[in-house]
Amino acid sequence: PEHHPEDRWAEDVRLMKEAGFTVVRMGEFAWSTFEPSEGEFRLDWLARAIDLLAENGIQTVLGTPTAAPPAWLTAAHPDTLAVDEHGHRYEHGKRCHYCVNSPTYHKYARRITSALGERFGAHPQVIGWQIDNEFDTVCYCETCRGAFHDFLREKFGTLDALNAHWSTAYWSQTYTAWEQIPLPKRGHNPGLWLAFREFVTRSYRGFQHLQIEALRPHLREGVWITHNFMEWWDTFDHYALSADLDLASWDWYVPRGHNDPLKSGAMHDLVRGFKQRNFWVMETQPGSINWTGVNQTLNRGEARAMAWHAVGHGADALLYWQWRPAPNGQEQYHGSLVDQAGQPRPFYEEAARLGAEFAKVSEVLAGSVVSAQIAILHDYPSRWSLDYQRHHKNFDYIRHLLHYYEPLAKRNLPVDILSPDVPLDPGKYKLVIAPALAIVTPARAQRLRTYVEGGGTLILTIRSGVKDAYNALLPVRPPGPLAELAGVEVEEYYALGDKIPLHGQQITGTAGIWAERLRILEEDGYGTQVIAEYGDAGGFGWLDGFPAVTARPVGEGAVYYFGGYFDTHPQDKFLGMICESLGLEAPLKTPRGVELCQRVSPEGENIYILINHQPKQQNFAIPWVVRDHISGYAGKGQVVLPPYGVVVLTVLKK
Ligand code: GAL
Repeated sequence: PEHHPEDRWAEDVRLMKEAGFTVVRMGEFAWSTFEPSEGEFRLDWLARAIDLLAENGIQTVLGTPTAAPPAWLTAAHPDTLAVDEHGHRYEHGKRCHYCVNSPTYHKYARRITSALGERFGAHPQVIGWQIDNEFDTVCYCETCRGAFHDFLREKFGTLDALNAHWSTAYWSQTYTAWEQIPLPKRGHNPGLWLAFREFVTRSYRGFQHLQIEALRPHLREGVWITHNFMEWWDTFDHYALSADLDLASWDWYVPRGHNDPLKSGAMHDLVRGFKQRNFWVMETQPGSINWTGVNQTLNRGEARAMAWHAVGHGADALLYWQWRPAPNGQEQYHGSLVDQAGQPRPFYEEAARLGAEFAKVSEVLAGSVVSAQIAILHDYPSRWSLDYQRHHKNFDYIRHLLHYYEPLAKRNLPVDILSPDVPLDPGKYKLVIAPALAIVTPARAQRLRTYVEGGGTLILTIRSGVKDAYNALLPVRPPGPLAELAGVEVEEYYALGDKIPLHGQQITGTAGIWAERLRILEEDGYGTQVIAEYGDAGGFGWLDGFPAVTARPVGEGAVYYFGGYFDTHPQDKFLGMICESLGLEAPLKTPRGVELCQRVSPEGENIYILINHQPKQQNFAIPWVVRDHISGYAGKGQVVLPPYGVVVLTVLKK
């Protein structure tokens, strides 16, 4: 509302209502309007906007505006501006340019946040709050440097301990005073690097926490607090920040202009894993964005498939960013629902259709959740560690994780993506995959052991169990504390320039990027079997005939070790074979390009969301009598999905 004259608001709200919007997010960058000069608060305009929306059945989520400090603040207190890694202080005029550790900034952030909380916290139509907007900037100013030293003092206690954990005798790095420790840039000690990521996490968590504390006392019961995360961004540990939130949400943009459901499905699952419950898509694109080389618009209809895909993966709301472009300002050409003239853009029609569909099914979906029997573990410290020292430029932690995710997603098997620090119940998860879990602490090892001994099946992969919590090499062969459980140890690892062949009883193929030479631990009948081994690599020799994939039965459970980075075909086969052996199978067969998602209602009823991700019609038979909650159809037989079409089914008779 701060971008457009108030006499226009009624028309905007009318258009929103007509399109079926039920919630609006506001305020997340409005600090200079809320507090035009120091201590002068102007919040009445927002109260009027909230009330107008409420009168039309639209609820409000408010953002705290701290991602965009006003000019009077940064001018009076330049220490609130962040400094980049080259030592340049940010200037006013963009956003996210504040120093997250600045005590001055904290004071002002706390004040505006509590002013907003005081005014709107009890408002019956303000249902939730978003803290800041997409935390990301890393600051290298003197305040942060001092705060980092305090953090290290607290973490290590003594410099001797720090020097020992970081092996600082190497290259004469030994520190004799805390003040000597630099803020790391590329090329610094891995221990220093990891500690700095932890420090950045703590900085944002602290900043978020001070806002939560400023808000919470003012909020009526049931009002939630969230932050809008960005998918795989790794500036900080998202699990740590999520711990202090009531709800996880994220901003979903598709820079290539088309959705890749295998990739975006993993992002939704990631965010669902932040709190292990349903989440919100706090922003998504109404057609196009404005920040890539070619800002292509989604195909007509594609947003429908995308929205339902989000719901199928556990989203309970989906908001479009933005409503209307401001006449000036940096995002003039971004997609929006209405245009510069205030007229609905062609995309508006699509949003309106979705609004009508959501209205039809919201009752059926209320309280329903995604229930997965497979978990993939995703770990920020392991990721920071490996991405810092890839050893093969094509080894990317997330791409490697997705290499395990995609064969499952293709089979329409729901997956939870979880922190390795949450309990894993073998009664719930038949299969847990821990891709490249480089950092294995005793507690993590114990948790995985308990899971397997309780009957779970675990897949360990390359680059596991190499490091301790300080990013130091463990003084044992990988997978370190997991070797005994896996029944193998890694004698050597190889970054591969050329492909190497792979032979198994049922599966042949090749591996690239990475391969490990495994030694089977024979002691006391570990029972480890070789599922596949490396073939003759034409001269390389170090791996010829050595095991590539092993399996060790442990009680009712089992541990697989994947010693290579296998190509898509064998990878798919291996995972298919393991899923089959565990009885993990989707309840329906769908044609290529049609995704099946499942949510379970509080009464235990399955809700099947079938999504056609292709721009061509798909017809197929299903063996049940069903009701489609979108079209109202009830009966047996054919599912007909037009391009990007969707059905939301419950089963009347099997
Ligand atoms: C998001 C951001 C929004 C808007 C959008 C444009 O990352 O939160 O404020 O800038 O990108 O795509």
